[in-house]
Amino acid sequence: MTRTVIRNGLVITAAEETAADVLIEGERVVALASTDSAVAAGWTADRVIDATGHYVIPGGVDAHTHMELPFGGTAASDTFETGTRAAAWGGTTTIVDFAVQSVGAALREGLDAWHAKAQGRCAIDYAFHMIMSDVTEDSLKEMDLLVAEGVTSFKLFMAYPGVFYSDDGRILRAMQRSADNGGLIMMHAENGIAIDVLVEQALAAGRTDPRYHGEVRRELLEAEATHRAVKLAQVAGAPLYVVHVSAASALAELAAARSQGLDVFGETCPQYLFLSTDNLAERGADGFEGAKYVCSTPLRPREHQEALWRGLRTNELQVVSTDHCPFCFAGQKELGRGDFSKIPNGLPGVENRMDLLHQAVLDGHLSRRRWIEIACAAPARMFGLYPRKGTIAPGADADLVVYDPQAQQTLSAATHHMNVDYSAYEGRRITGRARTVISRGAVIVDDGAYLGRPGHGRYQPRATCQFID
Ligand code: URP
Ligand code: ZN
Ligand code: ZN
Repeated sequence: MTRTVIRNGLVITAAEETAADVLIEGERVVALASTDSAVAAGWTADRVIDATGHYVIPGGVDAHTHMELPFGGTAASDTFETGTRAAAWGGTTTIVDFAVQSVGAALREGLDAWHAKAQGRCAIDYAFHMIMSDVTEDSLKEMDLLVAEGVTSFKLFMAYPGVFYSDDGRILRAMQRSADNGGLIMMHAENGIAIDVLVEQALAAGRTDPRYHGEVRRELLEAEATHRAVKLAQVAGAPLYVVHVSAASALAELAAARSQGLDVFGETCPQYLFLSTDNLAERGADGFEGAKYVCSTPLRPREHQEALWRGLRTNELQVVSTDHCPFCFAGQKELGRGDFSKIPNGLPGVENRMDLLHQAVLDGHLSRRRWIEIACAAPARMFGLYPRKGTIAPGADADLVVYDPQAQQTLSAATHHMNVDYSAYEGRRITGRARTVISRGAVIVDDGAYLGRPGHGRYQPRATCQFID
């Protein structure tokens, strides 16, 4: 079994920061010891990684990705192979992707299809949530089986009528079932029925540009749906996790629920922290540049960003995931020229999350430990992967990043590894970068070289949410 020692780094977990050496045997961390201790000095190793001047952090856990998602008449442009490789470059070593149930089909069919797409292709470890598009007696029963085999979270949509949408009755039934089987309901909280009325009215009035995507998907309709989801979960006695929170008023609904002691959790994404409706309104050479920033929930006016940062500091929001769902500008986003409602919804970002959040540490929004909490430990606990993932401790998987906190980089489509022809953060200067990325003991990125391979990543069945007693 290969023994690796990472020497002289500052080990940062969600709980502490210590100057420590880390001993890895095979795929696992076996010991930590203070850098100057006799114990560490006595360690023998086949491989020594020098982390002087660097952080040693857990590999990132991105709990919201959509590789190869068929959506909006096309499919997300990153495959499991390209998307997980890009994630590795950015210091993420686990993703939880969304398998999709088609209307009229069994959950199992969707899950099998996602296993087939991912199997043998991933550079890093992966797990699945299940999107429920068709809540029926049969699919409710299937939820129990999926929870038992490690797919312990289910996404429902209050948006996208005719595609993924579930009405309140179906949502309540799924929540009741999860209250019994230990599953966690993840909610896309936007009032899609009302939004579709506003879309129709906007198009009829000739308001077809990308920026109207943000205008019709009104903040109030995110807040209203969030409120309704919380109340339905309360009626069902079920925990709730609201995905991609973008509006300050939706966050206020979560905060109010949490202050009542409800098991309600929230996630936001880098795009809501760093981008805004200003980007959606970009016109570029042909008036369509804003399409690059079309996602749902939509980007909000920049005033919302401060509320989201505060929510992350005060634990009103627990997780930052990417909602990585890339569509190329050429040929994909372009499907919506002349009709913003036909622009495929989604942004790339799986490669950028750890770095953007490190920049947020430097900008004073987060502490270093909070960075690790929201990007590694909390998503691992929320989705039943902790302490195998999300921390550095004896017994944990050796998923680690030697992170250079002083490296300078400029985010750009010219240099990123995601399979998409633009960067949502083009030209943004960032301080910090993953130097060495280790996945289950194997070095997969080192000093600008990719050393991983498709198929190294292993499927990870999950326990139930560890935030709920
Ligand atoms: O715009 C987004 N978020 N696309 C992916 C699907 C979803 O709703 O998460
Ligand atoms: Zn969603
Ligand atoms: Zn999503």
